[in-house]
Amino acid sequence: MDFLIIHILAKNSQINLMIQHRPHTTVVMAISADGKIADVRRSPARFGSLADKAHLEKQVAASDAILFGAGTLRAYGTTLTVSHPQLLQQRTHLGKSAQPVHIVVTHSGKLNPEINFFKQPVKRWLLTTTAGAVFWQNRTEFEQILIFETSTEKIDISTALQHLTNLGITRIAILGGGSLTASMLELNLIDELWLTICPLILGGASAPTPVDGIGFVPQLAPRLQLLEVQTVEQEVFLHYRLERLVERI
Ligand SMILES: NC(=O)c1ccc[n+]([C@@H]2O[C@H](COP(=O)([O-])OP(=O)(O)OC[C@H]3O[C@@H](n4cnc5c(N)ncnc54)[C@H](OP(=O)(O)O)[C@@H]3O)[C@@H](O)[C@H]2O)c1
Repeated sequence: MDFLIIHILAKNSQINLMIQHRPHTTVVMAISADGKIADVRRSPARFGSLADKAHLEKQVAASDAILFGAGTLRAYGTTLTVSHPQLLQQRTHLGKSAQPVHIVVTHSGKLNPEINFFKQPVKRWLLTTTAGAVFWQNRTEFEQILIFETSTEKIDISTALQHLTNLGITRIAILGGGSLTASMLELNLIDELWLTICPLILGGASAPTPVDGIGFVPQLAPRLQLLEVQTVEQEVFLHYRLERLVERI
């Protein structure tokens, strides 16, 4: 579990810190050599190698919950489950269920109930708004519907993460896409990133990137510390940690 610094006020040389608990969060994404996570048609990103898939599965297996945006689910129609016997055995030894909980983030709740995701053997939770929950209430697809809204009827991800901590979720893998990652970075809710650079160029000005949203000015840009670099055949696996604001004062 991590301490999240949610607010720093520097006034008269005094720094006040408010801290709260939330799960540890790691973004895991594959990117093209030109920094795209999908092509301009927003197709599912299936350009990673088997080594990248194994890496992703390892990150999924190390988590209590998987978080992804509705755009990602619409693109893939499925989620990645843990299937490697050794990873399943490790989870059993740790007293965990075979699969982490898969949490879909959507404001609108507009998801097709016919997609394969709803047939996969995982626990599904929905993180949404009051309006987004309407269709899914009194149905069986989602085991839990979490409604956390801001005063502007957007999803209150910070409070939702605190709630997940209370439910015993300590590690979350965030599997994209660029919109969800951007909004979580803006709120300082990301701890680590794994980016796999794959040997292809997708191009396209409107093709999604790991972090879309409105972007950051350089002075306020989240800073990273490189933790490790691994090269497997033609792919480079980059592991970063987010520097906390307090480390930059
Ligand atoms: N290369 C990779 O590793 C990788 C991984 C994942 C995805 N992808 C690609 O990324 C693309 C999808 O990414 P995306 O950026 O379009 O979608 P996304 O981030 O997966 O989902 C965005 C959607 O999530 C919902 N949402 C709820 N709260 C949000 C919040 N606070 N901030 C942002 N979104 C919120 C909204 O759904 P509603 O519209 O329902 O309200 C929003 O439209 C696809 O092309 C997919 O193939 C690639």
